[in-house]
Amino acid sequence: MSSSEEQRRARLERLRGEVVGADLEVPLLGGGSRRYVNLDNAASTPTFRSVMAKVEEFLRLYSNVHRGTGFKSQIASWIYDEARARVARFVGANLVDKAVIFTKNTTESINKLARIFPFGPGAVVLTSMMEHHSNELPWRRHADVVHVGLRPDGSLDQGDYAKKLAELRGRVELVAVTGASNVSGWVNPVHELARQAHAAGAKIMIDAAQLAPHRPIDMRPPDDPGHLDFIAFSAHKMYAPFGVGVLVGDRAALRDAEPDMVGGGMVDIVTIETAYFSDLPEREEAGTPNIVGVVALAAAIGLMEQIGWDVIQAHEERLVRYALERLAQIPGLTVYGQPKEYDLGNRLGVLSFNMAGLHHALVAAILSYEGGIGVRSGCFCAHPYMLCLLNVDAREAARVQREILGRDRSHVPGAVRASVGLYNDASDIDALVGCLATIAAGQQRGQYEMHPETGTYAPVGQEPPPFARYFGLDAS
Ligand SMILES: Cc1ncc(COP(=O)(O)O)c(C=O)c1O
Repeated sequence: MSSSEEQRRARLERLRGEVVGADLEVPLLGGGSRRYVNLDNAASTPTFRSVMAKVEEFLRLYSNVHRGTGFKSQIASWIYDEARARVARFVGANLVDKAVIFTKNTTESINKLARIFPFGPGAVVLTSMMEHHSNELPWRRHADVVHVGLRPDGSLDQGDYAKKLAELRGRVELVAVTGASNVSGWVNPVHELARQAHAAGAKIMIDAAQLAPHRPIDMRPPDDPGHLDFIAFSAHKMYAPFGVGVLVGDRAALRDAEPDMVGGGMVDIVTIETAYFSDLPEREEAGTPNIVGVVALAAAIGLMEQIGWDVIQAHEERLVRYALERLAQIPGLTVYGQPKEYDLGNRLGVLSFNMAGLHHALVAAILSYEGGIGVRSGCFCAHPYMLCLLNVDAREAARVQREILGRDRSHVPGAVRASVGLYNDASDIDALVGCLATIAAGQQRGQYEMHPETGTYAPVGQEPPPFARYFGLDAS
């Protein structure tokens, strides 16, 4: 191992102690407390002290951007541009061909693209059955949506992809697929999908919300057949939870689109009769942007780059291998998405599972109340995918749908999801597996009841935690 690699690994190890909130003690059922174990990183990651420090440092210089003449406005504008250039480099985008547009999250980025993409009449968006709702619902408003099917292990059926591209040739204007699933952790071969999309005359958009924190992204130059035309991701999933999202897009495709929103910051000149809009990216960033959030994202990217993808990926793969091995020892536990082959290059540290005979929401509640472990349960905003993974047939799906519409969520199908970030280590997996073993042995301490309206479980007769003791909104 080179000394630089050693240093970078040491930097990664130190990060654990730098997680903001790493020392948070949470109450446990029956008394006592423990340090919170955060295995909910696929939803949102915490941030690091060094990212916070950058934000504070920037706040001394903070000012609005958009050509103010004061020193603070000038420097804030320069920092904002530097951050944009850093984001472009992070995803291998050349700012000549691509525009980096800041939004508030992946959902907004995809909605924006859906609104400004120059769809023709009868256009088809080819997406897949493994998408987050944010990469499904926006397209329905603007095009016909066709879904690529799945293989039995929950991965994308590439044969079906090629078949649908061929069948719909001339109509598929955009392929919109996830870079990695937020349910099974499957990583898609985005450049191969892109190559085929381009050969069929379509562009491709990758939902990189899960991919960006865990794998390098290279959009590649436009003359590369496997290049990515558009990507979207969220800073809050990559250690910068300050409300920024990113849409990186092909300038040529979006240049002439009617701007999504109009107002300040995106016009060259306005008269009473006319308005001349600026070029991208400003054209798509109406109003004052989230400058602080952008600085935080750039700082988090800087931190990830310091450590390097080789070190991050090797660490996360070790952790996933360890987690899969340990989870396999829990009786009655099923992990969704290729758990046995340990093909870790194709799998993120997103582990969705169920325990035989136990409601997913009950398992998640016990992990929280008795283990101090943060996971998530349910369908993870990917209802169609979850129904496939769980083999829920159409009749059962219709029955549950009726119940949900009648405000009863007690039979919602789903799973428990544990997801790792680069700061997690084996002790977090041990905490998870230890608590799951207790549950499997039927030795949990509490009695729990389901609240049908929310579909969640809570300990019987237990008051909600005293949240106000942890936080009040008044500044001191
Ligand atoms: C794959 C995927 N796409 C899109 C989203 C939406 O991200 P956001 O809530 O930041 O808009 C998520 C969030 O979990 C996701 O996992």
